[in-house]
Amino acid sequence: MTTKEKVFKYLEEHNGNFTSGQDMADDLYVTRAGIWKAVNTLRKEGYNIEAVTNKGYRLVLEKDVLSQKGVDELLHKEKNDIKTVVFDEATSTNDIAKEYAGNSSDDVVIIANHQTKGRGRRGRNFYSPKGCGLYISFLLHPKMSIEKATQVSCMAAVAVCKAIEKLTGKDVKIKWVNDIFLDGKKICGILTEGATSLEDGSLSYMVVGIGINLYLPKDGFPDDIKNTAGVLFPEGELEENMKNRLSAGVIRELTNLLGSGDVNDYLEDYRSRSMLIGNYVKILNGGTVSGGYGKVEGIDDECHLIVRRDNGEVEALSSGEVSVVKY
Ligand code: BTN
Repeated sequence: MTTKEKVFKYLEEHNGNFTSGQDMADDLYVTRAGIWKAVNTLRKEGYNIEAVTNKGYRLVLEKDVLSQKGVDELLHKEKNDIKTVVFDEATSTNDIAKEYAGNSSDDVVIIANHQTKGRGRRGRNFYSPKGCGLYISFLLHPKMSIEKATQVSCMAAVAVCKAIEKLTGKDVKIKWVNDIFLDGKKICGILTEGATSLEDGSLSYMVVGIGINLYLPKDGFPDDIKNTAGVLFPEGELEENMKNRLSAGVIRELTNLLGSGDVNDYLEDYRSRSMLIGNYVKILNGGTVSGGYGKVEGIDDECHLIVRRDNGEVEALSSGEVSVVKY
C-alpha cells in the first residue's frame, strides 16, 4: 500500500472525525512531511480533507465526490483495467490527454471535477464549473481507418446515453452530431480530436472529450447558454456517488462498444435515440452544404445525417450543426 493509500484508509476509518498529524505519522510509520504530501495528493484527486490547527485532519464525507479510488474500485469490480487519472481541477481534460499521448502509447481516461479552460467544438468554451459536472477525456489508439475513427465520437454519445439510462432511468436523446439532450436542453457535449502520422497519414491517437452537466450551477448558467443548457439532475439534490458511478458507467459502455467486433454495432442505438429523424431542420454550417433547410430522413452507416432539401435533393452531412425548425 502506498503512503497515500494508507493515509486515506486511516482518515476513512476515523469516520469524519479529526486525527492529529502526529498520531497518524506514528501509527503509519510515516514522517509528518509524508503525511502532508499524501494529504495534498488526495486533495488534488478531489477529496475534501480539512486541516485545523491543534486538531489535525479529517475527511469531510460528502454525498457525491469524484475520486480516483471511487472510480477505480468500480472499474476493478468490472475487471476493466484501463488506466484512469482523476483530478479535482484540470485546465482541459482533452489537453491533458494530449500531453499523455506525447509520452505514452497506452490508452488512458482523464477525469476532472472542474475545468478552468474547458473547450467546446468550433473554438467555443465549455462551461465547466466546480462540483456541477463531470469532464472525461479518453485517449485512444484505435486500430481503424480515420473514416471509421471519426465515428468513435458518435459511439461515445451512445455510451453516455446508455450509462445515464442505466443509472437514472432518464430518457436522453442525441442531437446529431453528438450533443445529448434531456427534456429539450443540452446536458452533454462531445469534442473529439486526433493526430495523424506524417509518415503514412494513419491515425496516431484520438481524444474523445465528454462534458456532462449534472447539477445546476449556484449562479445559473452564463447568459450565452442559459436558454439552451440543462442538467441531468435539475431537482437540485446531490445523487449518491453519482460522479464515480457515471464515470465508470461511461467507461464501461464505451469500452464495450469499442471492443465489439463490428464498428457499426452502435448505429441502431444511435438512431433510436436521435431527436432529429423526421424533423425539419435549418442547416447552420454543414461540411458539404452551408445554410438551407431540409427534412432529416435518417442517419447512414457512416453516421452522416441524411437530409432531403426543399428542392428534393438528398444530401449526407458529415459535419456541421443543424437546428430543429418549429412550425
Ligand atoms: C461541445 O458541446 O461543443 C463539446 C464540449 C466538449 C466538452 C468536453 S469536457 C471534457 C473535454 N475537455 C474539454 O476541454 N472539452 C471536452
